[in-house]
Amino acid sequence: MKVFIDSADLDEIRQAFAWGVCDGVTTNPSLVKKAVDRRKAAGEKLNMKEYITQILKVAEGTPVSLEVTELSAEGMIAQGKKLFAMFNPVAENVNIKIPVNPAMKNEDISHFDGIIATSTLADEGIPVNCTLIFTPEQALLAAKAGAAYVSPFAGRIDDLLRKRAGIQFGKSDYFPADGLVQKDALLEDNGIISGIDLVRQCVDVLEMYEFDTEVIAASLRNPRQAREAALVGAHIATLPFSVIRDMLKHEKTFEGIDLFTKDIVPEYVEMLK
Ligand code: E4P
Repeated sequence: MKVFIDSADLDEIRQAFAWGVCDGVTTNPSLVKKAVDRRKAAGEKLNMKEYITQILKVAEGTPVSLEVTELSAEGMIAQGKKLFAMFNPVAENVNIKIPVNPAMKNEDISHFDGIIATSTLADEGIPVNCTLIFTPEQALLAAKAGAAYVSPFAGRIDDLLRKRAGIQFGKSDYFPADGLVQKDALLEDNGIISGIDLVRQCVDVLEMYEFDTEVIAASLRNPRQAREAALVGAHIATLPFSVIRDMLKHEKTFEGIDLFTKDIVPEYVEMLK
């Protein structure tokens, strides 16, 4: 499984690439806002174009998702083309993130605008990461439209299931991949019993029909979800910086290094001088 960093924070991206474990970057408007707010709070004046250029250079050789902000098909296509023309020449690693469905309500008429934008950009050779996927059928239609990537949001499905059941939870709380029973009933949303189950079903459908589209398990908030995404065959997990770091932690590793350090004999250290 490839590991992407889910961040627009240049310092985090630099660090994750320096660790040598990062295979790409995903951003979204909320992550860009977080990074920009942080820089502004530190008194920095930000040049957005220069900032994104730096991200692309750090990630050279690996894909970087840049998201559109328009919601109509025409607007997303125009922005997608502009983003690609402006930034792909930097390091030839840009893909355009398009919401699978930009409608905000059932009554809206724009349900297919994300699919139209995806297929139009894909037809023009612009790779698309189709985002905000909450069902395998959304992933299927995005793949049929030519998306290079689909991003099922695991953590947000878990949020939805817990909220409906009235369970108090923190953003990074673990939700069991095999679902949660409450009052003798398995929590589910439209046949999806957990965020990882959503990822699994997306992978199964796309692999069954041999799409080239890669599944990016997104909205993962803890190392255990990253492990489970790997176990269900996600091609990619996009992870916050803190989760990538926490994947290395274990109390017995800390204890073991403490014990080994205490046992070092001077002869061994001398030999290595
Ligand atoms: C995916 O690309 C999104 O940026 C992200 O994973 C969303 O995560 P969140 O639900 O923790 O905000």
